[in-house]
Amino acid sequence: MPGDVIRLRPTTPADLDWVLAAEGHPVGYVILAGLARPRDGVELRRIVVTEKGKGFGRATLRRVKMMALNELRTDRLWLDVRANNPRAKRLYEAEGFAVEGTGADGLIILSIRRGDEA
Ligand SMILES: CC(C)(COP(=O)(O)OP(=O)(O)OC[C@H]1O[C@@H](n2cnc3c(N)ncnc32)[C@H](O)[C@@H]1OP(=O)(O)O)[C@@H](O)C(=O)NCCC(=O)NCCS
Repeated sequence: MPGDVIRLRPTTPADLDWVLAAEGHPVGYVILAGLARPRDGVELRRIVVTEKGKGFGRATLRRVKMMALNELRTDRLWLDVRANNPRAKRLYEAEGFAVEGTGADGLIILSIRRGDEA
């Protein structure tokens, strides 16, 4: 599934009815942090896909990479993942994220830099 089929834009108050209506059957969502100052890095804080194993996660991750690195021009897109979540970690590494370090609470920090895209 090509990454360019996923379009990302901020939620607005006008979207809220739709968001609430869709809440029962969303394909997924992402939470991004640092968008106001992308030069300090952008964090992919959360990615959740409800219909797993169909390529939505990879496609969404590719779209987020494109937005953060190419459109917002951040130097570093980063995230953390629990060590007991091999599905997500495998996906991130396959998409070019590299391990930066491990936190005390079992969180692994991964990042991708502009120019290192898979
Ligand atoms: C992690 C997550 C976003 C991946 O999304 P997805 O749509 O299921 O993944 P995709 O279908 O795009 O598959 C991407 C990769 O995930 C892995 N994967 C997918 N389904 C899998 C399964 N049933 N078992 C193990 N790994 C699996 C594979 O590495 C796969 O790559 P491949 O197709 O080359 O084998 C999704 O599983 C999810 O929402 N998990 C719960 C929330 C979460 O853990 N978020 C990440 C931490 S915040």
